[in-house]
Amino acid sequence: MTADIIDGKAFAEGLRGMVAQQTAQLKEGHGLIPGLTVVIVGEDPASQIYVRNKGKVAAEMGFLSDTIRMPEDTTEAQLLAVVEGLNADPAVHGILVQLPLPPQIDEGLVILTIDPNKDVDGLHPINAGRLASGQSALVPCTPLGCSMLLADRFGQGGMSGLRAVMVGRSNLVGKPMAQLLLAEHCTVTIAHSRTRDLPGVCREADILVAAVGRAEMLGADCIKPGAVVIDVGMNRIDLDNGKTKLTGDVDFEAAKEIAGAITPVPGGVGPMTIACLMVNTVTAACWAGGVEGPA
Ligand code: GUN
Repeated sequence: MTADIIDGKAFAEGLRGMVAQQTAQLKEGHGLIPGLTVVIVGEDPASQIYVRNKGKVAAEMGFLSDTIRMPEDTTEAQLLAVVEGLNADPAVHGILVQLPLPPQIDEGLVILTIDPNKDVDGLHPINAGRLASGQSALVPCTPLGCSMLLADRFGQGGMSGLRAVMVGRSNLVGKPMAQLLLAEHCTVTIAHSRTRDLPGVCREADILVAAVGRAEMLGADCIKPGAVVIDVGMNRIDLDNGKTKLTGDVDFEAAKEIAGAITPVPGGVGPMTIACLMVNTVTAACWAGGVEGPA
């Protein structure tokens, strides 16, 4: 039997529809228009595409959407001044500074400067701490999206007591995802490139989340029969015909013969990330407006 394919694209469409509806209600009921400003420094082509998409979807939601483009040679002080201006602007509820930044700018310092209540990327240590201690937090968009796909699959309380293995330990995905799984009462292991017998550790997982950034690194020997596999990888690989292909961190063709359910790449986790950025912006707007957020 082959695995169920988890359709993140369809789920994200539904989520965006819900956010658009909530936005209309906030406008009508409270005169509150969620505002999202994305800041990009330099010309990195992949970042340009991401930022364009974020702005486009934000406008579709009915947000007040702005993109600030700064040149490659922007100084740290100039970027910090822009962030401080956005912190002080009551029309801006969400601030996202696209990463990576040019080498003359300290990313950690930029993240620390963003008002934690406007930090829709969920990267500020205050938000990481809130998440780790079970308080209301802005949660990084990709793990938030993964946890929504899992909640949809398992239902209320359905993950309790399961073994979850998170492969990858980044601040953006691995660490917050592990916290979300722990909050669902999973028994969580964080594995990474130095883990001994990585396939053996992965094979214990009822829920396997992969965010390592290496094309098809996790093969058939990493999958427990019936496991739910969430593939966060987005790796572009060269094909023989001179074209390129987007592929995940999991060998999809092999894993789908063993797993119970799996996200494809593309069309799995990817579309959830932008949708969750919109969710976080509504959350931040509700906090700022003193309005009870959507359930
Ligand atoms: N670059 C790649 N992914 C992300 C993300 O989620 N947030 C930001 N700010 N930059 C990124």
